Amino acid sequence: MKIQKMAIQWFPGHMHLTRKAIATRVKETDVVIELLDARLPGSSANPMLAELTVTKPSLKVLNKRDLADPLCTELWLEYYNALPKTRAIGMDAADKGPAKRLIDACRELAPGRGGMAKPMRVLICGIPNVGKSTLINTLAGKRAAKTGDEAGITRLEQRVTLESDFYLFDTPGVLWPRIIVSQSGYNLAASGAIGRNAFEEEEVALELLSYLKQHYAHALRARYGLEEAGASTDEALLSAIGRQRGALQSGNRINLQKAAEIVLHEFRAGVLGAISLETPTEYAKWLASGQLLDAQRQARKSKKN
Ligand code: G4P
Repeated sequence: MKIQKMAIQWFPGHMHLTRKAIATRVKETDVVIELLDARLPGSSANPMLAELTVTKPSLKVLNKRDLADPLCTELWLEYYNALPKTRAIGMDAADKGPAKRLIDACRELAPGRGGMAKPMRVLICGIPNVGKSTLINTLAGKRAAKTGDEAGITRLEQRVTLESDFYLFDTPGVLWPRIIVSQSGYNLAASGAIGRNAFEEEEVALELLSYLKQHYAHALRARYGLEEAGASTDEALLSAIGRQRGALQSGNRINLQKAAEIVLHEFRAGVLGAISLETPTEYAKWLASGQLLDAQRQARKSKKN
């Protein structure tokens, strides 16, 4: 599948640098905030980050909650809140008190920190496009002072002071070198986390339609007025959407590329409604089979060498 191709393009020098910067910062971190996309929390979690921060209390912020299915978001919040040393909250750009909610949740996770002698040091991470700049700008604009040029703060991070004894360190958004769960690759591409020349829009749109047909057929019917939305094949559905939206090329043929762009754009913008692409149970299944396939692949590779 095309998404695997990105592995090569995805490990540029800056990712090594970011990894190093995170590893250094983690040593002096009390809580790690991981910003996740509420529509795909499992797929938008960075396994590299999990490995680097395994010993630290973790706050999962399910961002873009306005775009996600509220029932799924509840399932994910329950799932994360049941994990040790972990809290989870939902959030979106319209949130009126993001700083207070973040501060309260972090103080709960690290009750021993606070006061000038032991200020709370929080690291915030998230994959590209998850909404980290938006959140940090809101935090920095309202009640925080941005400082990026102090000793000990690398060029790769910035520090935001949320309260006099509460520092937030920002890191650049990173993707990871390999995606072992193929459905995660599709979900990340559908969400807009992956640059558009790294995947085939038609392929991603077909995967998206396949999931929407099963779980949100009513949304497809409502948006595209297609009665048969739940019953037709993914390809027939994409063609029908293309026809309905006038995505045609010479000879009155459907322009599937254009149709795919329409579907992806409307999903990303929330025009199709509040939709999530995975539940904790679904994701756990995908992860287990992805890990199995990956282990088999690695075994074959080491046999060859
Ligand atoms: P990043 O730093 O993590 O890369 O992400 P950034 O804040 O740049 O946000 C990426 C896109 O997601 C932006 O849209 C931003 O407006 C949008 N966004 C951030 N938080 C939320 C949220 O809670 N809900 C929704 N619906 N969208 C959110 P954009 O189209 O790339 O830019 P623009 O339209 O804001 O100019």
